[in-house]
Amino acid sequence: MEESFRFKEPTETLLSEERVFRPLPEIVVEANISPKDYKKALEKGQRDLEGFWEEAAEKLEWFKKWDRVLDESHAPFYRWFVGAKCNIVYNALDRHIKSFRKNKVAIIWQGEPLGEKKKLTYYELYRRVNQFASVLKSLGLKKGDRVAIYMPNLLQTAIAMLGCAKIGVIHTVIHSGFSAIALKKRVNDAKARVIVTSDGAYWNGKIINLKKAVDEAIIECPSVEHVIVVKRTGEPIDMSDGRYLWWDDLMEGASEECETEILDAEHPLYILYTSGTTGEPKGVLHVHGGYMVGVYRTLKWVFDLKETDIYWCAADIGWVTGHSCLLYGPLLCGATTLMYEGHPLCPKADRLWQIVDKFGVNILYTAPTTIRMLMRFGAELPRRHHLKTLRLLGTVGEPINPEAWLWYYENVGRERCPIMDTWWQTETGMFMITPFPISLLKPGSVAKPFPAIHVEIVDREGNPIPQGKGGFLVIKRPWPAMFRTLWGDPDGYKKYWEIIPGNVYTTGDVARKDEDGYFWIQGRADDIMKIAGHCIGTADVENAFFSHPAVAEAACISIPDSIKGEVAKVFVVLKKGYKPTDELDRELRQYVQKELGPIAIIKSIEFVKNIPKTSSGKIMRRVLKSKELGLDPGDLTTLAD
Ligand code: WTA
Repeated sequence: MEESFRFKEPTETLLSEERVFRPLPEIVVEANISPKDYKKALEKGQRDLEGFWEEAAEKLEWFKKWDRVLDESHAPFYRWFVGAKCNIVYNALDRHIKSFRKNKVAIIWQGEPLGEKKKLTYYELYRRVNQFASVLKSLGLKKGDRVAIYMPNLLQTAIAMLGCAKIGVIHTVIHSGFSAIALKKRVNDAKARVIVTSDGAYWNGKIINLKKAVDEAIIECPSVEHVIVVKRTGEPIDMSDGRYLWWDDLMEGASEECETEILDAEHPLYILYTSGTTGEPKGVLHVHGGYMVGVYRTLKWVFDLKETDIYWCAADIGWVTGHSCLLYGPLLCGATTLMYEGHPLCPKADRLWQIVDKFGVNILYTAPTTIRMLMRFGAELPRRHHLKTLRLLGTVGEPINPEAWLWYYENVGRERCPIMDTWWQTETGMFMITPFPISLLKPGSVAKPFPAIHVEIVDREGNPIPQGKGGFLVIKRPWPAMFRTLWGDPDGYKKYWEIIPGNVYTTGDVARKDEDGYFWIQGRADDIMKIAGHCIGTADVENAFFSHPAVAEAACISIPDSIKGEVAKVFVVLKKGYKPTDELDRELRQYVQKELGPIAIIKSIEFVKNIPKTSSGKIMRRVLKSKELGLDPGDLTTLAD
């Protein structure tokens, strides 16, 4: 990460977005948090950080309350709710069984093949989770052991995660799109005793043979004692290795009752490997207590979850969004969460809209990359569906360009649903900078820090950068859902806090704040370009391209230049009907240069069919750049497809 922090100067703002959108009065009136309470929360979060989070913690149930909210004595190894005993599963499941939610649908599961759907009530889910926890116990697993879960969005994935947490076993979900090598690396790093997987997975109309990757990986995974296999596709698979066990066989005889383990608030909940768009995977560790408080508080307020809502986070469970927003968060709030197994284009590009109408989804949360992909198929597709039940929309994962924001707002939200553009990270565990349903919205801006989140934009030395200019986005005070360490690498964890002076957490992102205090993410610090002395973020350049009608996707990198230091090269995927001609090249250059001004020097445009992305849809600029410069691209295991 340090390499990218060589820049001392603030980044320039090349584009400015003037449009603003106000929420409809009925959204404001019915919001879980009113404008007045929001103001109060902001004020309290500034004045009394611990009091703010204590209030949120009081909404959940604890076996024993804390002696102290926050212990900073070993900073940056912060501890939250010190002395408290709890279990996130108690709050996500057990307590609902005792309430009116017992027979409420907890999870709606929609398979990729049309017509395959299942629903589990809170009570049914509770029983299945108990069974799986009993299975783990019968296999000899104990509190603190690790289980790797290598499965797509299946009900069994949710059951396995909750079953682990119930007895204090640490889960690590490995995205089912990852290769055998990526799987092996992560399983070995976590020293997992068990892998849970499925015979196969449905993905965009094809069957992916997951089990084959496991077969390959476990040859070199000495810690793995058992592999539990869920039958999903029914493909013939080899079960001859003595370590393989069928999920159904194990579950059949398992007890439907299992005590929830009473855990220390700081007991590890899960490890999630992230390499983001840069190098080697890091095992981000989250714990039961603070994580449940942070995720509960942010989701309830930002997505405004109501008792009758169907909430759909269209992310993969192998991503932090899947953990916090598909599974734990909604269950903590007692909501009905929808889980979709498959690809947004299967069987056709209107699958998301079809699912929204089929189940009456009220809140839809997805990523800019998905929106841009669907935009290519035209507005007629969402327009063919009612989408009447939608009340709120959300986006996460990358800066959303204003064109995509507007498309989403107009064609999906029908100008009635505010868009929650939530900025956060695997490391933060919960939303950090985000609008609220009551907020004024600016397309492309992530609005303001969540109450009690202390954010600043600074230079390399930690000095605040004047408003309007961009710099390093840092977080100055701890928050409860923060990661506690990197698994097996406490020094790596400490580094996040040492890059910039002042005991601040360096996010690795570059951002600016406008005159209203709204934040605009300009890109990853690693990707910042320095052209003729001006620091320029990738988002501005890409957004200028996105605003041209011919452009479906764009990715910008810097390449060395003997005169300017660096110049920009942009990879462009064209929309259907456009041809990559010299004329279009010229037109695009003229167009974006006019948009961006003379500072951003676009050296060349390359028309490509695809842009390399991670499985969560982030552009891998590092891959483009190393290819361009003939360098080693580094770890490619998180590359999608
Ligand atoms: C980027 C995803 C702009 C950012 C939850 C961050 C965003 C990284 C946004 C973390 C957003 C996430 N606007 N950029 N709303 N949300 N990012 O760990 O660069 O997969 O640092 O967590 O995604 O990605 P991660």
